[in-house]
Amino acid sequence: MKSIYLFFTAFLALASCAFAFDPSPLQDFCVAINDTKTGVFVNGKFCKNPKLATPNDFFFSVKEGNTSNPLGSKVTPVTVNDILGLNTLGISLARIDFASRGLNPPHTHPRATEILIVLEGTLYVGFVTSNPENRLITKVLNKGDVFVFPIGLIHFQLNVGYGNAVAIAGLSSQNPGVITIANAVFGSNPKISSEVLTKAFQVDNNIVDNLQKQFWVDNN
Ligand SMILES: *[C@@H]1O[C@H](CO)[C@@H](O)[C@H](O)[C@H]1NC(C)=O
Ligand SMILES: *[C@@H]1O[C@H](CO)[C@@H](O)[C@H](O)[C@H]1NC(C)=O
Repeated sequence: MKSIYLFFTAFLALASCAFAFDPSPLQDFCVAINDTKTGVFVNGKFCKNPKLATPNDFFFSVKEGNTSNPLGSKVTPVTVNDILGLNTLGISLARIDFASRGLNPPHTHPRATEILIVLEGTLYVGFVTSNPENRLITKVLNKGDVFVFPIGLIHFQLNVGYGNAVAIAGLSSQNPGVITIANAVFGSNPKISSEVLTKAFQVDNNIVDNLQKQFWVDNN
């Protein structure tokens, strides 16, 4: 009897090690503070009394995105910031509109895997695996085709069809986040020092200056 008790105690101790984990962050960072009165609530948002929930807490209407910008694409995210009822549920979506040859430029979602379906048009899509392989995995998608972009990996979508294109992306976080590579590297505020960027990209100052002077469109 005693040995069974010991066995279960050991099993529970092991199980709690195996299954205990920190919750994934739902924002970029959360610096700790000493005084709770000066802080904000994380991880996620405060919850409404469920008895007071209304249909509109679970509803949002997505309009066609305006693609009149230098990228020729517009992402309309529908996250917990748009549908408060998504809080704690771990999913969101985005509608992506593309003008002819429109591009959703290389970017990553730090907190979500993406699954994308093409509703209209033809997209050339791809993602790059991590170092050291950095393998590019691409596919041309037509209406009805679905593609997956694994969490954290840099990916893009280019409209290679003749007309407009529309896609819907499902994302495995209520707040997936977006880091557009060019905007983050060349459009950061304040600027990254040119010594960092000239060495990193193996180019001279002029090129870095030029890139830092561009207006980096945010299509989100
Ligand atoms: C937190 O509070 C303690 C006690 O007041 C103090 O010694 C410590 O420096 C504080 N830590 C930070 C990071 O502010
Ligand atoms: C789309 O955006 C462009 C550029 O900002 C603007 O001039 C145009 O009026 C917008 N079109 C619509 C239908 O909102």
